[in-house]
Amino acid sequence: MSTTPQTNRQYILKSRPTGPLDHDLFELRTQPLREPEPGEVLVRTLYLSIDPTIRLWLSERPQYMPPIQVGGVVRSGGLGLVVQSRNPSFKPGDLIGGLIGWQDYCVGDPNVLGLRPLPKLPVPPLAFLGPLAATGGLTAYFGLFDIGQPRAGETLVVSGAAGSVGSLVGQMGKMAGLRVVGIAGNDEGCHYVTHELGFDACINYKTEDVKAALARHCPDGIDIDFENVGGPILEAVLERMNPFGRVALCGLISQYDQETPLPGPSSFPMVLMRRLKVQGFLCTDFTARFPEAYARITHWLTAGKLKSKEHIFQGLESAPDALEFIFHGKKVGKLVVKVSDPPAMP
Ligand SMILES: NC(=O)c1ccc[n+]([C@@H]2O[C@H](COP(=O)([O-])OP(=O)(O)OC[C@H]3O[C@@H](n4cnc5c(N)ncnc54)[C@H](OP(=O)(O)O)[C@@H]3O)[C@@H](O)[C@H]2O)c1
Repeated sequence: MSTTPQTNRQYILKSRPTGPLDHDLFELRTQPLREPEPGEVLVRTLYLSIDPTIRLWLSERPQYMPPIQVGGVVRSGGLGLVVQSRNPSFKPGDLIGGLIGWQDYCVGDPNVLGLRPLPKLPVPPLAFLGPLAATGGLTAYFGLFDIGQPRAGETLVVSGAAGSVGSLVGQMGKMAGLRVVGIAGNDEGCHYVTHELGFDACINYKTEDVKAALARHCPDGIDIDFENVGGPILEAVLERMNPFGRVALCGLISQYDQETPLPGPSSFPMVLMRRLKVQGFLCTDFTARFPEAYARITHWLTAGKLKSKEHIFQGLESAPDALEFIFHGKKVGKLVVKVSDPPAMP
């Protein structure tokens, strides 16, 4: 008897956003689900990774991947369980990660879908959407250590501090002997990174004067900016950078739902005056070195030196709300949507 489910719910992109997100952009459709062909797998979605980059993929602005097609399933990373396999590299019961999309099931060639088995490491599966993900710890690791080039005693500022990447950057910065100052948009996030993760200070950019707070918390200036946000926060940070400082340009979330790019930063001349090195990077630039990062991050996790937490929305139907929550909610930690129950772990 076939165990193949007969139908699949999928979120389809109906039209492109022209500013802040709203529900009318997406439609939840139920479609017949086909059986896998030779070489293909059928995967049940367990968790979706809800990331700022999905907002970029919804738009047609120049970016690092093709935009999501109008009429297509919303692209998204996630974790899944192989239900059926006609591919010798996968078997039913395997946990996989990759771009499984906003849907209950995905079926296709794992290479085309970018699906890969999760590395066998002594961590819970959700770690592969946070500390061991390209949308979390891998980005933090390569951005801080390769681009940031930290030296003990220096000062690191990290924006988006209570988010997936930022919360891990700050902890790695503390392990590297840095003074770490976070910038986040809510008091819960500031409290989390200072009281639970060991940051030296955190500035609430919604309630504080960021320039004045940076002057207070970074008395010796800033040597490394791990930039997740851009806009006025980047402007304020650049003004306080020390000569030969480094800016690891990871993300510009403040611009992702703007119709037209923000002008500036007005303090850009500081790149010249302070001889700063500003480098954009993608985590995937470092794919060949992921095993190195997996080993070090797994060690930190199992030794209790690196902490993470998830903010979990329940059910596929909540995915649009979850994406909106990144931009307007009081989120702390990694944002995921739980779509179905994972198998019991041994
Ligand atoms: N280069 C790469 O390879 C790479 C990989 C992953 C992520 N990224 C980028 O890194 C950044 C952080 O990603 P993440 O996965 O850590 O995201 P995340 O966990 O979703 O955190 C993003 C946080 O950004 C803050 N935010 C939202 N709108 C903002 C605005 N207008 N101004 C200032 N802050 C705002 C929010 O926190 P508050 O409520 O505290 O403001 C939000 O929780 C993003 O820009 C993302 O695109 C880059």
